[in-house]
Amino acid sequence: MIIYDSHIAAELLSQGQLVGIPTETVYGLAANALNAEAVVKIFEAKKRPYFDPLIVHIADVDQMDRFACDIHDKARRLAQMFWPGPLTIVLPRQKIIPDIVTSGLDSVGLRVPNHAITLELLRMLDFPLAAPSANPFGYISPTTAGHVQDQLDGKVSAVLDGGPCAVGVESTIVHCSPNGQITLLRQGGIPLEMIQHCVGDVDVQLHSSSNPKAPGMLASHYAPRTKLQIGSIDELLRSVADLNVAYLSFQTEFDDHPGIVLSPNGDLSEAARNLFAAMRELDQKQYDLILTELMPDVGVGRAINDRLLRAASYG
Ligand code: TXA
Ligand code: MG
Repeated sequence: MIIYDSHIAAELLSQGQLVGIPTETVYGLAANALNAEAVVKIFEAKKRPYFDPLIVHIADVDQMDRFACDIHDKARRLAQMFWPGPLTIVLPRQKIIPDIVTSGLDSVGLRVPNHAITLELLRMLDFPLAAPSANPFGYISPTTAGHVQDQLDGKVSAVLDGGPCAVGVESTIVHCSPNGQITLLRQGGIPLEMIQHCVGDVDVQLHSSSNPKAPGMLASHYAPRTKLQIGSIDELLRSVADLNVAYLSFQTEFDDHPGIVLSPNGDLSEAARNLFAAMRELDQKQYDLILTELMPDVGVGRAINDRLLRAASYG
């Protein structure tokens, strides 16, 4: 059921039910983060492995200390600078956060999403919201309420419709240790350059099936069912002439082939905003293969490239 009223969402969440919520990055599948039984339903609905921890969404910077401890000044600076916004900060957790939310880790990922309806919802509640992206585990993240409805119908009590997501890729995740060391765990809506500008040196540890700090960052993720190949679209189109293929390009239109251009003017933010819906649309058309290319590896282009590489991975 699609709903537009945050009061109804608040009521359902207070009863321990699951609600799809809009954020500026992607739609989340939310439950009361302090209610372990409600949180179990998230893992069941997504078929998500229990070793993959959830992000806890809070209403404002002031709530940080309720859920995290040993917060270094740099983490506070990041929060002040980028919240509400697409940045998740992983910090030592307070005991009030149940084990199931953090997969037993002694840290918790916190974020204040930048979306008016969801901020209104969070302010109404007396608990924070655990919310992963609202897609079946491993599939493309949803950027509209309709995407959530299509994929999780029957498993979610309601989807709060807040329109299409403005950023389109998930939050950037940084780990901040008590001594102030900052480690980038996932590229996302806030470019690495901006994090560095705010706090100086940042370690980068993105590859993670082997990285205990981000157990959920598997190589194959965000993936369509149709095989996706990355390279020079022009060359690839010629090499697979006998197959039924479509392209997904940054700026270029390829005559005589079906496909989607992410941003005709070469705007990386626009490309990010369109990325997941475009992958989803092409995936539904049952092509043999989707051909795509990497974007310039700067700013939010880094997050787009990360998602494309994971989508093309079959490991
Ligand atoms: O933009 C986003 O972050 C969206 C919206 C809904 O907020 N959420 C999202 O959640 O992308 P999800 O569950 O799809 O990805 C969250 C990732 C996990 O896979 C995990 O790697 C990392 O966040 N994470 C969460 N808590 C962590 C922790 N305590 N330590 C390390 N990594 C953590
Ligand atoms: Mg996800």
